[in-house]
Amino acid sequence: MTSTQTKFLLNDSDLPKQWYNIAGDVPEVLTPVLHPQTLEPITPEFLNVLFPMELIMQEISTDRYIDIPEEIQEVYKLYRPTPLIRARRLEKALGTPAHIYYNYEGVSPSGSHKPNTAIAQAYYNKMEGTKALTTETGAGQWGSALSMAGNFFDLPVEVYMVRVSYDLKPYRRVLMETFGAQVYPSPTPHTDYGRSILEKDPDTPGSLGIAISEAVEAAVKSNGQKKYSLGSVLNHVLTHQSVIGEEALKQMDMAGEYPDVVIGCVGGGSNFSGIAYPFLRENLRNGVKTRLLAVEPQATPTLTKGLYAFDYGDTARMAPVIKMFTLGHTFIPAPIHAGGLRYHGMAPSLCTLFDEGHIDAVAVPQIPTFEAALQFTRAEGILPAPESALAIRVAIDEALDAKEKGEERIILFNLSGHGNFDLSSYQLYMADKLENYAYPEEKIKAALEDLPRVNLAPAAAAD
Ligand SMILES: Cc1ncc(COP(=O)(O)O)c(C=O)c1O
Repeated sequence: MTSTQTKFLLNDSDLPKQWYNIAGDVPEVLTPVLHPQTLEPITPEFLNVLFPMELIMQEISTDRYIDIPEEIQEVYKLYRPTPLIRARRLEKALGTPAHIYYNYEGVSPSGSHKPNTAIAQAYYNKMEGTKALTTETGAGQWGSALSMAGNFFDLPVEVYMVRVSYDLKPYRRVLMETFGAQVYPSPTPHTDYGRSILEKDPDTPGSLGIAISEAVEAAVKSNGQKKYSLGSVLNHVLTHQSVIGEEALKQMDMAGEYPDVVIGCVGGGSNFSGIAYPFLRENLRNGVKTRLLAVEPQATPTLTKGLYAFDYGDTARMAPVIKMFTLGHTFIPAPIHAGGLRYHGMAPSLCTLFDEGHIDAVAVPQIPTFEAALQFTRAEGILPAPESALAIRVAIDEALDAKEKGEERIILFNLSGHGNFDLSSYQLYMADKLENYAYPEEKIKAALEDLPRVNLAPAAAAD
């Protein structure tokens, strides 16, 4: 290995054959999932209205490893293993003694880490006879990934796209349509919930919580024909994303280094967990002490300002109730926020691990985030997704801190996607039209008034 190597590439044969499930090492991440009406723990049968049985079994599994079916591996091979790149030009621009590595998920056909679970979800649904999938999307990365996966497994996909993104980001919509997906601006007049929102506010920009409600309703009312697919938050989604960290462990080994800190942005928590959980396993089982750092926007400060409580997964209170850090299910993000990551909650497993101190979190404002994105683009040539730019901001801050302290810190971050469809956000930034915006404390307090009052029997609560 020469010391000037920049890319660390694995072969098709190095593709992980198993996903890593954090519940195999930390079973307490499996917190109870409650019925949205009764607020009692729900059964796999109830969840089966929404998800195929295999995914439900993965959701509650404590097996440390889950085999990846060959059909899924075949599709993964279109873009996996993804490259690990040493950001030598960025290091130079910063004048830092730190070594900065990034795992690049933007090489996937739809441009982000989302296909890692979309492909698996489409496959299991197809195997169990589902006739179509429903889902929501914000900026469109998840919708594109599921549309692509549905197309590969011959499964029609219905996407409820948050209206403001549908209007502002038409190219993501067109991409979904090229895969044959049906894309609706949410709220739509096609669901009871969408109609009820439109009656009150015909000009609503929509929200991810509303779009989730519509996609769930469309599945629930389909007489078992359609099932719902979620692109983050749930345990099985995070498990599918573990291929990122498993590959990165091998690639860091090729580089002859081991990270002091692993950084990822968090929306629902899936790309961060994907890279971080395999390193957490090494912390837990092999006594290493890598710091795992989740980065969120100050406009959606779920981990850093939210309350750790049971809350609904969606705005209409149709999706299951889970224990998570939350800004309240009525949360509607500020329109000034251009960077994605607009979900009110967070993956329950990540919340447990954060609460127990295994993971750190930080919230950053949007202008320094876009500044970091441009600095990265100019050094490394890749225009990052605005979501991923949060991880870049903090990786640069770590590198500058290492410079100040004269430390050769090893930094690894996940570059979860490219920003080639997010040019309108970059345009706003370059035209000085963005402001820093921190979600106000009073709004968080008010939204938390609407949390469900959960009163679990002590045994269930302690699960
Ligand atoms: C490129 C990119 N990175 C990150 C995220 C955040 O989602 P998660 O926290 O599930 O990785 C999204 C999703 O919306 C995304 O499109």
